[in-house]
Amino acid sequence: MPEVFNWHLGRPMEYAFEEAHPERQFAAVFNINRCIGCQTCTGACKATWTFSKGQEYMWWNNVETKPYGGYPHHWDMKILQQLDEAHQAGGREATWRSDDSSKYGIYEGMTITEAARDGEQALGYLPPDAEWTAPNFYEDTSTAYKGGPMGISLDGASLPEHQAWFFYLQRICNHCTYPACAAACPRKAIYKRPEDGIVLIDQARCRGYKKCVEQCPYKKSMYRGTTHTSEKCLACYPRVEGDDPLSEGVPMETRCMTVCPGKIRLNGLVEIGEDGTWVEDRQHPLYHLVQVEKIALPLYPQFGTEPNIYYIPPRWAPRSYLKQMFGPGVDEAIGRYTAPSRETLAVLQLFRTTQKMIFRYEIEEGPLVHETEVNGKPWSMYDDTIIGFDSKGGEVARLSVVEPLHERSKERLNSI
Ligand code: SF4
Ligand code: SF4
Ligand code: SF4
Ligand code: F3S
Repeated sequence: MPEVFNWHLGRPMEYAFEEAHPERQFAAVFNINRCIGCQTCTGACKATWTFSKGQEYMWWNNVETKPYGGYPHHWDMKILQQLDEAHQAGGREATWRSDDSSKYGIYEGMTITEAARDGEQALGYLPPDAEWTAPNFYEDTSTAYKGGPMGISLDGASLPEHQAWFFYLQRICNHCTYPACAAACPRKAIYKRPEDGIVLIDQARCRGYKKCVEQCPYKKSMYRGTTHTSEKCLACYPRVEGDDPLSEGVPMETRCMTVCPGKIRLNGLVEIGEDGTWVEDRQHPLYHLVQVEKIALPLYPQFGTEPNIYYIPPRWAPRSYLKQMFGPGVDEAIGRYTAPSRETLAVLQLFRTTQKMIFRYEIEEGPLVHETEVNGKPWSMYDDTIIGFDSKGGEVARLSVVEPLHERSKERLNSI
């Protein structure tokens, strides 16, 4: 198998195809801390793309309650167990070694490709029909609460970690750099677009072999019985291309991103170098959050597909659980999110302010408005203004850190 470089893992790894990278990559940051579990994103995707016969169980966007929820049921537990068994059988450990030259350290374990059984491209399984039912099973179910005799305990009741906890995990296809679905397909029906890294299934080539369903570790390729082909999130590509009538010819964020009332999502296109790493783009909001501040992390980087949806981890969940899910960068990410730098606080205002993708930001400095201590260290807040620009350099967002207060004039007061 050819060797490719995976910067999430800080090392080369085996993959089915030779290394090749798109000019730009579709990517997003999801802030788990702000999600209210309203499923507006889920409904928007369904109403746009999966409302037809044969697509009833397809939820290209889903929001599940961790640790118990999952769609299909237990998808991550099952693949993690397979990976664990492969490590045990090989006498290896899935550890990370710290290394200053890589973003998160160096992963010393096996990826799903490296642990594949003979004749297979990757570890995987085909979920039975029953596991595709009930997309929001275990909604709002928390872990056990160990209260005293009266059921009251203050142990672990406050931050940084709660004793009883759950959080919402928002999931779409990761438009992976090294998609396991594409590697698995015997028909070569799945491809990654060179212009934006979006991963699509060619419906004319697909013959319904379901190897993509089996070997996508995130279970985001789904089989359709009425057409005998598989389908998946297509990153709302007409919007990304700027073809939507609303877009005025510039790339727009996808449907699931733009409807989010929790303002947790920021979607964009990032420039990719020939070696597959992100080209330095200091004023790009996604570059700032992922590469500079490192407060947004990939989901299960150890799977080895180099996913392109990044998550700001929830502050209140146990770190060991989060490290299994987002890798070794969790402590640093949560630390920097809890006491954000002046620049990061301004960048965080950009989430869900415009339907157009933001390619660059500028910050106008404002006055000091608040001083306090966070985790025993001084922290200051400034009322800076951040301005976002679209792909053509047009201004599409302007926000201050302190939300302006608008008082309704007397003549406009409600009469009831
Ligand atoms: Fe393919 Fe799954 Fe990655 Fe999407 S998340 S690109 S379906 S491997
Ligand atoms: Fe659905 Fe578009 Fe979101 Fe993909 S990006 S989950 S197709 S709304
Ligand atoms: Fe969470 Fe936003 Fe989806 Fe609501 S629309 S569930 S806040 S990601
Ligand atoms: Fe290939 Fe998946 Fe279709 S494996 S043939 S894209 S069902």
